[in-house]
Amino acid sequence: MKHFVNLMDIQSRDLKKIILDAKKRKNSRKSLSILEVDKSSPLKGKFLIQMFEKSSLRTRLSFYLAIKQLGGGTITLRSNELHLGQGGESIADTAKILSTYADGFMFRTDDDKKVENFKKHLSIPMINGLSPSSHPTQVLSDIFTIEEIKKKPISKLNICWIGDSNNVLNSLIAASVKLSFKLSIGCPKKFQPKKKILFWVKKNKKKIYIYSDPKKAAHNADVIFSDKVISLNDSVNVKIKTKAFKNFKVDKKLFSFANKDCIFLHCLPRGDEVSDEIFLGKQSHVWQQASNRVHVQKSILLYCFGKLR
Ligand code: CP
Ligand code: NVA
Repeated sequence: MKHFVNLMDIQSRDLKKIILDAKKRKNSRKSLSILEVDKSSPLKGKFLIQMFEKSSLRTRLSFYLAIKQLGGGTITLRSNELHLGQGGESIADTAKILSTYADGFMFRTDDDKKVENFKKHLSIPMINGLSPSSHPTQVLSDIFTIEEIKKKPISKLNICWIGDSNNVLNSLIAASVKLSFKLSIGCPKKFQPKKKILFWVKKNKKKIYIYSDPKKAAHNADVIFSDKVISLNDSVNVKIKTKAFKNFKVDKKLFSFANKDCIFLHCLPRGDEVSDEIFLGKQSHVWQQASNRVHVQKSILLYCFGKLR
């Protein structure tokens, strides 16, 4: 049984296989409409339960379409509508029930411990659809998008992140180690990635580049990423944190330090961390980025269900 919880725990060759499968699958269904099932219907009869403790638009819809296009079915649950966490039912019991009713479990939570607890008690694969510490499905899909646009393996590109050291960045750091690409991060000193993550990078004999000057991070970039300064799980002083990021806005001036054909990506939703001119401009590929999530979720599901070609 294969979970998809943290990119740090997934082998590089499996990540590459997922991306390759998504490319083939996207190409081969160009003439099909949204709800038509892929030719071989590889997940026919399979059932995915999605559970959300936080808001979601893209992750929810992309998993819905992904399992449908593979021939399976899904339901979306809100954890506050279940007994879970209200004293009525333990995670262990809920996990056993989910394992009886379904073939896979996709979970978005505000508590990393819950992910670990579910993992311990489930006998079906679990996918992390965003937790405070990582957002692996987003980042793998973003790598797919970058390779699609740049027509090059990610290992040949300079990737830059301007913004908070959050769940998305943690997964991007893990991906940079697993897929060997150069990652430069621009963020205020106080909001640098956690020591634990930096230690893991070092342990894997890789390097990432962290700057408190965003211009240095953007220098020669092929891709600039950004994300909201205040994430869903952030319980910080919003005013203080927002002020610390004042000089980290992705705008035309910052883009002038990057390579000429540099592209902009953002997982959405967005805040003030990027100017409209960049977000809605020619170099931005955020809509393609969002729509590609369907294709990559499909290959992630196939990986988890042991059906990757
Ligand atoms: N990017 C992303 O995960 O979007 P949602 O929060 O809408 O799922
Ligand atoms: N870092 C953001 C990503 C949203 C998709 C958050 O956790 O809110």
